[in-house]
Amino acid sequence: MTVGIDAMAIHAGKLRLDLAETFAPAMDESPEKYTEGLGLHASSFPDVHEDIVTMGANAAHQLMERKGLEPADIGRIDVATESAFDNSKPVSTYIAGCLEKVFEDDFHHANKGERKFACISGTQSLDDAYNWIRAGRNRGRSALVIATDTALYARGDAGEATQGAGAVAMLIGEDPDLVELSVEQGFGSADETDFLKPNQQFPSVDGKRSVQVYLARMREALEDYESVAGRVHPDDFRFGPFHTPFPGMVRKAAMLAYRHLTRDTEIEDELEPELGRQPHPDEFDDESAYHDAVREYMDALKGTDQYRAWYDRTIEPTLDIARHVGNWYTGSVHVARLSALRRAREDRLDAAGERLLVGSYGSGAQAEIHTETVQENWDEELAALDIDDQLEARRDISFEEYEAIHDAHNHAKDDEFEALTTPSGEFVRDGQGPMNERTYRYVE
Ligand code: COA
Repeated sequence: MTVGIDAMAIHAGKLRLDLAETFAPAMDESPEKYTEGLGLHASSFPDVHEDIVTMGANAAHQLMERKGLEPADIGRIDVATESAFDNSKPVSTYIAGCLEKVFEDDFHHANKGERKFACISGTQSLDDAYNWIRAGRNRGRSALVIATDTALYARGDAGEATQGAGAVAMLIGEDPDLVELSVEQGFGSADETDFLKPNQQFPSVDGKRSVQVYLARMREALEDYESVAGRVHPDDFRFGPFHTPFPGMVRKAAMLAYRHLTRDTEIEDELEPELGRQPHPDEFDDESAYHDAVREYMDALKGTDQYRAWYDRTIEPTLDIARHVGNWYTGSVHVARLSALRRAREDRLDAAGERLLVGSYGSGAQAEIHTETVQENWDEELAALDIDDQLEARRDISFEEYEAIHDAHNHAKDDEFEALTTPSGEFVRDGQGPMNERTYRYVE
């Protein structure tokens, strides 16, 4: 039985903050820090009437309509988020409630839950759905996995540079149209405090440390994956979608991955006259000398034709969307997969049968590596997506509007702001009920 992702849909926050033109000058920073250093041009932001429920419900609604599904076809709804506003009632119940406003039937027989482990919980929810189907408990039904986040940082925090908002809905089922998931997985996991939200809305972040923890856990996960699936060669996969808090992060991860994957291969032999062999810890008296040698090797490796060609072919296409939407936390690695497949379509690549090496990461911290195989109908699925239309339709905001929108989503502030866009054919948040619950309606 093949199990994997049958279809995907996204919902991007309806506002757009231009980082180079609007944010950088207001912060008295160079635009190149964003466009070149972080690799970001813009962030998506939620309008006043948008939140994790509306974005998730809008993505799921679009997906179900497109695939001609009814609630009875869905046996599970899992929401992955790190932006939840309720410690008890899961976001999936709110989203199911929204969807029941537009479908005749209900989701009363669907198992609903919420997954938490920073940005990796979207992938963990895929795993849960996969296991549920492989165990034969799905009764022929599919699972709906929704990764939805408003990635906002406290004003003045360094993380403000890498914000974003959006949702990714994924349909997981038997004989999928998009990608099959591998049985093999590798994990790298440790108790870390690089990014956390101990009962607070905005994260406590040690940004520089989170970069190091990302790299360390990802490396462990790759080694663990290889221990079960065998050595991975750089040519074994066509694209490498990685968790993308900002494209510059993936640039760093890709360098490390390439060094690891080329060790003791014909590529290392080919590069030897130019770079020498890769440094090995046994050859050095102390750790810092070893690390210096690794840094030197990596600096030289970065400039080689072999690395550049591999990066441009395998990694760069995964970053096209992230550059224009910023960090979507739990949705980010899934946006990277879409980005790669979208590029494959633009380049008229015959991608069926090609493999993806998918690297997910969540602070706190855990990385997971698995592979996916692109399915025959991938091209049709990609053709049905409206990513470009959504991104183009976003409304550009000024810095003053950004400040107001940030306040509108700050739980500690109760100022009222007018929405900047007019909703149409979508779910919106419309207030607070008697139990302090958020309330929603569908706008035709
Ligand atoms: N031209 C070109 N590059 C520039 C530049 C310029 N004028 N100015 C800065 N840069 C580069 C920096 O060298 C740096 O790149 P490097 O890391 O490869 O050296 C990059 O742009 C970012 O600049 P920096 O000064 O480090 O930015 P920052 O202090 O705002 O911190 C983060 C960046 C990512 C640490 C911060 O935004 C953050 O904490 N984000 C949230 C946490 C996160 O996303 N973690 C990732 C793991 S999940």
